[in-house]
Amino acid sequence: MSKNITRQTYAISKFDRLKNNGHQAKVIWFVGLSGSGKSTLAGNVESVLHKKGYKTYILDGDNLRLGLNSDLGFSKRDRSENIRRVAEVARLFNEAGIIVLSAFISPLESDRNQARKIIVVDNFIEVFVHCPLKICEKRDVKGLYAKARKGLLPNFTGIDSPFEPPKQPDIIIKTKSESMKISVKNILELIEPKLKLE
Ligand code: ADX
Repeated sequence: MSKNITRQTYAISKFDRLKNNGHQAKVIWFVGLSGSGKSTLAGNVESVLHKKGYKTYILDGDNLRLGLNSDLGFSKRDRSENIRRVAEVARLFNEAGIIVLSAFISPLESDRNQARKIIVVDNFIEVFVHCPLKICEKRDVKGLYAKARKGLLPNFTGIDSPFEPPKQPDIIIKTKSESMKISVKNILELIEPKLKLE
């Protein structure tokens, strides 16, 4: 980072934007294996929030890797950079007054901790989308597990690249056994009180 950089401040603050929107801005960070249901869950939670008038935006692993992060692969280093950039973007969206729902495998605890710091601890709500590897592999929505098993996709999370489950998530959603309706309800019960403006 250059030393010759000075932070600029402006007349309109984050709080001014939050007041206009009528709610807090948080990051709801969905963590889980590929195929665990992160994106589907994030989409369903967003739909409910949106209908209720909240300002929302989804940051999704596959989508960001088509644009901002298209230069990154799946090495440990690239995944770290992926999560760092996403956290910075999420923070900007929060500054703009928008609730972010982020769906990234984010397999490493150290990277999630860094994201939590960037976003500011109080604004980071961790949702562990728990689903056994066997089930994710059976679902194989994108056909990637099959490719990974054949050795055609190196560094695939859960196969030959690690996944460290969150130790103290704010909530665990078990997509194998819980219905979508119940999962969405449980997440909303957790987050809606945190979205109130004092
Ligand atoms: S992360 O590990 O860096 O957080 P991210 O969520 O951005 O991953 O991207 C994961 C998505 O990329 C998966 O849902 C899958 O569609 C695709 N993908 C392609 N290659 C891999 C791989 N080697 N490991 C995991 N996901 C992969």
